[in-house]
Amino acid sequence: MASEPLNLSVNGRPHRVVDALPGESLLFVLRERLGLAGSKNACEEGECGSCTVRVDGRLVCSCLVLAAATDGSEVTTIEGLGSDSSGAGLADVQQAFLDAGAVQCGFCTPGLLMAVDQLLDDDPAPDDLTVREAISGNLCRCTGYGRILEAVDLAAARRGSSDDSQ
Ligand code: FES
Ligand code: FES
Repeated sequence: MASEPLNLSVNGRPHRVVDALPGESLLFVLRERLGLAGSKNACEEGECGSCTVRVDGRLVCSCLVLAAATDGSEVTTIEGLGSDSSGAGLADVQQAFLDAGAVQCGFCTPGLLMAVDQLLDDDPAPDDLTVREAISGNLCRCTGYGRILEAVDLAAARRGSSDDSQ
């Protein structure tokens, strides 16, 4: 039996989900009902961070959030991070991850990008400990984190210099 219809804004676009079942996670609704497969499903237990999205400005593991609890919320997924209004261009954090070689299998990447984007919004010049804390909920099995930390530094430097030039 389907739940009550769910009204969500996802990446600035309104969605009405009529077929969600009670108990479905936000991650399931995003991936399977709205076709937004950028958020990954690795553990479904809140351990890996690959499903990280923003709900009303706060980072959450979408595998742990009941979709029904997000009715009326503003959700931002990795598909909404792009640099133009259609989400098509690369966001600065995405470009930095590419340039620093911080992407290998890529499974952790969407969640990490969401975490890093939020970090740099909150703290444009984070120190190393702050960066490590900010991404501590995002597990990467491939990179050893060195290049991810370099990518965060690069994104922070570029964001800082583009802010200075405005
Ligand atoms: S899939 Fe949600 S934290 Fe791992
Ligand atoms: S790049 Fe493979 S898990 Fe991070």
